[in-house]
Amino acid sequence: MTRVGDKITINKTVIRNRLTMAPTVKFDFAGPDGKATDKHIDHYRERAEHGCGLICVEATAVTPGGRFGQMHMGLWDDDQIEGHKIIASACHEAGAAVIIQLNHAGLNSDPSLGEQVAPSAVPTRNEEVLSKEMTIDEIHKMQESFTSAAIRAKKAGYDGVQLHGCHGYLINQFMSKKTNLRTDEYGGSIENRARFGAEIIRMIRKECGDDFLISVRTAGVEPDVATAIKLSEQFVKAGCDYLQVSTGIEWDDPSFTEEEKPYNHICELGVRFHDHFKGRVPVSCVNGIYEPEQARYLIENDLVDTVDLGKAILADPAFCEAVLEDAPYVKCYCCPRCQYGPGMPHKCPAEIKRTSK
Ligand SMILES: Cc1cc2nc3c(=O)[nH]c(=O)nc-3n(C[C@H](O)[C@H](O)[C@H](O)COP(=O)(O)O)c2cc1C
Repeated sequence: MTRVGDKITINKTVIRNRLTMAPTVKFDFAGPDGKATDKHIDHYRERAEHGCGLICVEATAVTPGGRFGQMHMGLWDDDQIEGHKIIASACHEAGAAVIIQLNHAGLNSDPSLGEQVAPSAVPTRNEEVLSKEMTIDEIHKMQESFTSAAIRAKKAGYDGVQLHGCHGYLINQFMSKKTNLRTDEYGGSIENRARFGAEIIRMIRKECGDDFLISVRTAGVEPDVATAIKLSEQFVKAGCDYLQVSTGIEWDDPSFTEEEKPYNHICELGVRFHDHFKGRVPVSCVNGIYEPEQARYLIENDLVDTVDLGKAILADPAFCEAVLEDAPYVKCYCCPRCQYGPGMPHKCPAEIKRTSK
């Protein structure tokens, strides 16, 4: 039986256990220059020091206009590499592997940054405005921006990158029929809708080498799990080493029932992907894992290869020790809006309780 403390090697990266920190943007840590700050460095170092196996650094923009908010990190410029070098080495010194999530928010980009592009002209987050449909030339330039950011990530010392292919951002917008209405080679069939992401994977592989870990945080449902698996097959074919599964844009899948499980329906997406990709590509699940028993259950029953922790590890940076060693922990309060979220005061009540102990 696999245990949560067992190592796993993905591509050439050895990960000391099965616990991964899910990417979570720190909405007020960066400045408008998109550089990593001391707050980022301390935040990731602390979680690595408390036993996390793989840190996935938060969504980091590949162009200045592709940020979801103005205070988000970027890797669109060589000047931004330095801060990431410190994050990567802090995590490595603490024994964790570390990758960084690369993103362009597409039609969900901050309207004031002027780059609400998408595969097609569809309503943006400020609904009265339509996104700008990308030309083929713009698609290729965007793929180059992802690749250049990956090259900078490698220079910074990251073990690899994670492409943000879920939650309705640009790569996911290409995957979904709701936001991709194109009739050229980037729209229509499953292969065409996955092409934008798959070509980025091939470009990164060519530039960053065979040993560089390439993960996709993929849509586990688009609009159903079977189609989402076929989309992700294209990523695997292109050389993706690791699938970390979350939600997509559309969810219309009658195969989900009310059956009670020790994990929720979003985690179930990862479980179904693992069932399909077993023995070929490691698969991670995420969402609602706030108790150590849940993480252990998923690993010990061979339901996934790794478990991504989101709010649990925001609330208590030492949550991994609770899973690995039964250490006491402070459980996420599941506030109606996460206190780490956009426009929030960043006063996580669980974190305050832990530090005031
Ligand atoms: C404050 C905050 C920031 C987030 N930022 C990102 C991000 O940068 N990239 C991403 O893919 N998901 C992001 N997410 C989603 C989380 O990675 C995770 O999928 C979600 O919180 C559900 O998992 P949980 O129930 O364990 O928190 C964010 C979530 C929160 C609460």
